[in-house]
Amino acid sequence: MGNSDFQRMVLTETVLPKEPEEIFKQIENFKELMLTYNSAIREVTTKLEILNDELSLDDGKNPIQFIKSRVKKPLSIVDKLQRLGKEINVESIMGSLNDVAGIRVIASFVDDVYKIADMLVKQDDIFLVEAKDYIKNPKPNGYRSYHLIIEVPVFFSQKKQWIRVEVQIRTVAMDFWASLEHQVKYKKELKDTKEIERELKECADTIAATDVQMMNIRNKIDDIIL
Ligand code: GTP
Ligand code: MG
Repeated sequence: MGNSDFQRMVLTETVLPKEPEEIFKQIENFKELMLTYNSAIREVTTKLEILNDELSLDDGKNPIQFIKSRVKKPLSIVDKLQRLGKEINVESIMGSLNDVAGIRVIASFVDDVYKIADMLVKQDDIFLVEAKDYIKNPKPNGYRSYHLIIEVPVFFSQKKQWIRVEVQIRTVAMDFWASLEHQVKYKKELKDTKEIERELKECADTIAATDVQMMNIRNKIDDIIL
């Protein structure tokens, strides 16, 4: 993340602090905070990779296809805090935002999603803040995914800090769907989206049925091989 992004953010009217030294202090604190979120992402990603390696030992199959991660962009952080009516500072970011550090885990099959979530949350240095099962309870638009908000300890030379991370776990098919749906949601030029939304909902349901069917086929194959 560029420093200039944050400078631009601090220099916008709504954020401008009274004293110039205050600006530099805020920039330093912000840089440190973003470093911390990055470290938290690295920790959780490593945990997931280790679990994936261990589970692959059994049968040579990876429950995790791939992992994506990102730290929320400074301007998106400001947008969200303003939407929530919060002040723009480090305390608000840490206190009010759950998704500054975001990890997306793409799993092979639906049962892998639950296996991964369960094994991660069971680790004794992970604190579970919230779990939302949009696979059992899909959103009205058809969105399916398993969401976790967790806290992990990040260790520095002088302190230990608990940092929030949002983990979204979904199958390849669910991820494929969510990427397209996301485009519809955020393309402002798209005016009448009723028909597209209807088609997307239909696809979401087809995908969900196919995901289950694929898992059942895999189970049958496993029964024959083992
Ligand atoms: P946000 O304030 O948007 O983060 O929502 P929330 O705090 O109510 O949490 P929720 O679990 O509903 O959503 C968190 C994240 O999941 C979003 O930021 C998106 O990345 C993703 N997500 C949730 N709903 C949808 C959806 O309908 N479509 C797509 N494509 N992504 C979604
Ligand atoms: Mg979010």
